[in-house]
Amino acid sequence: MNQPYRYIEVHPQNGALGCELFGVNLAEPVRDEVMEEIHRAWLDHQVLFFRDQNITPAQQVDFARHFGELDTYPFIEPLPDQPEVVPIIKEPDNRFNFGGGWHSDTSYMPKPPKATMLRALEVPRRGGDTLFANQYAAYEALSPGMKDMLAGRRAVFTASQVHGSSGYYRKADHPMDMKKPQDAVERRVDHPIVRTHPETGRRALYVSVPHVERFRQMSREESRPVLEYLCGHAVKPEFTFRFHWRPHSIALWDNRCVQHYALNDYAGQRRVMHRITIKGDMPR
Ligand code: SIN
Repeated sequence: MNQPYRYIEVHPQNGALGCELFGVNLAEPVRDEVMEEIHRAWLDHQVLFFRDQNITPAQQVDFARHFGELDTYPFIEPLPDQPEVVPIIKEPDNRFNFGGGWHSDTSYMPKPPKATMLRALEVPRRGGDTLFANQYAAYEALSPGMKDMLAGRRAVFTASQVHGSSGYYRKADHPMDMKKPQDAVERRVDHPIVRTHPETGRRALYVSVPHVERFRQMSREESRPVLEYLCGHAVKPEFTFRFHWRPHSIALWDNRCVQHYALNDYAGQRRVMHRITIKGDMPR
């Protein structure tokens, strides 16, 4: 039986993933025993949501540090006085949408971040939701034959499909000051296509749609049919939850078992978020 919570209230969002937490004020230091419960809820539900957290970037950083050492993002300048926090801004006349496709954050890095924390400062009147998909559920729903076929198989991941010269991030018009470090764009790494979560021991499908290029030791052409199937399967509606932002909402997701998708359905409106990533391990 699941251990009960003493200090926080945990409200699961649907049958797939995600829970909203009550009884936590992130403007104040979070006690160890409360942190233990928050961490447990995160591992159990994969994404945490908090509402009405009117906190400073420094307080967001303090809270994120409870989950591990903070990471950096290679493509966007952070806040000048808070280098761990990256502003994600979409202006009303801007068509470019950061994170607008299913993915697990920077899965093209040798050690992708284990978690991402996003806080809403300004949100559209309508639209701008974020979708999340449970990759444990996606793996578990595969047939025994497919699981056997994927066991031990690795795939090549790269940023070049989105950040390369013909990628979406280069072609789209956007005022966000995207940096273009060539080493980060061109790097290719290989990761298991099914990873084992280092804290829960559960297996999750690891197909970050825009970053996965091909299976290792196979051509793109040979890989494409199975990868296309897996990428579609990974985000079937029954594995997903859609989060509607309000100002001062926070989401914290586990990139080791979750993909997410920022919707681009609010042309003419502004959206401003503060994003922090937390360092992870090499996927195994
Ligand atoms: C991201 O992919 O990290 C951004 C998600 C969002 O803005 O909703």
